[in-house]
Amino acid sequence: MSDPTSPSPYSENKRFEPKVPIELNEPKRDEITLEELAQNDGTNPDGKTWVAIKGTVFDVSKNNAYKEKGQYHVFAGKDPSRGLAMSSLKPEDCVPEWSDLDDKYKTVLDEWYTFFSKRYNIVGKVSTSKLQKL
Ligand code: HEM
Repeated sequence: MSDPTSPSPYSENKRFEPKVPIELNEPKRDEITLEELAQNDGTNPDGKTWVAIKGTVFDVSKNNAYKEKGQYHVFAGKDPSRGLAMSSLKPEDCVPEWSDLDDKYKTVLDEWYTFFSKRYNIVGKVSTSKLQKL
């Protein structure tokens, strides 16, 4: 058990907590197709940018890192769960399939899920039978 009085940001319940508190909306449960996800890749004038992790779609529009010239644009408009798990920015790794990976990669992926869920609103779930669910 970690000491609840510890100032460390890595104590159990504060893990991946944003430095500045972020007010999030109630998660939406809209069904989002892969095509719709792909359209919201940050290259449109509306700036809408979505990233899905394990089929849950996060709205990352407020972060320029996912926009066209951003360092993490490769994740935008996709479910790049495999790339997040493997710490890979290769486009061929930025695909939804993750279930065959070793546990250590699955843990990394779950940590990214926690990181995103503390920063970004959930706009829905990817609706495709091919996507692996949580
Ligand atoms: C030279 C290598 C890298 C450097 C120097 C680097 C640096 C950074 C920095 C400074 C941040 C911001 C941290 C924060 O907001 O507290 C960040 C965030 C992030 N990095 Fe990296 N990174 C590197 C490689 C990678 C790789 C290989 C991946 C692939 C999974 C990755 C994925 C991410 C993601 C998803 C975020 C979160 C962005 C967000 O706030 O939504 N990074 N990185």
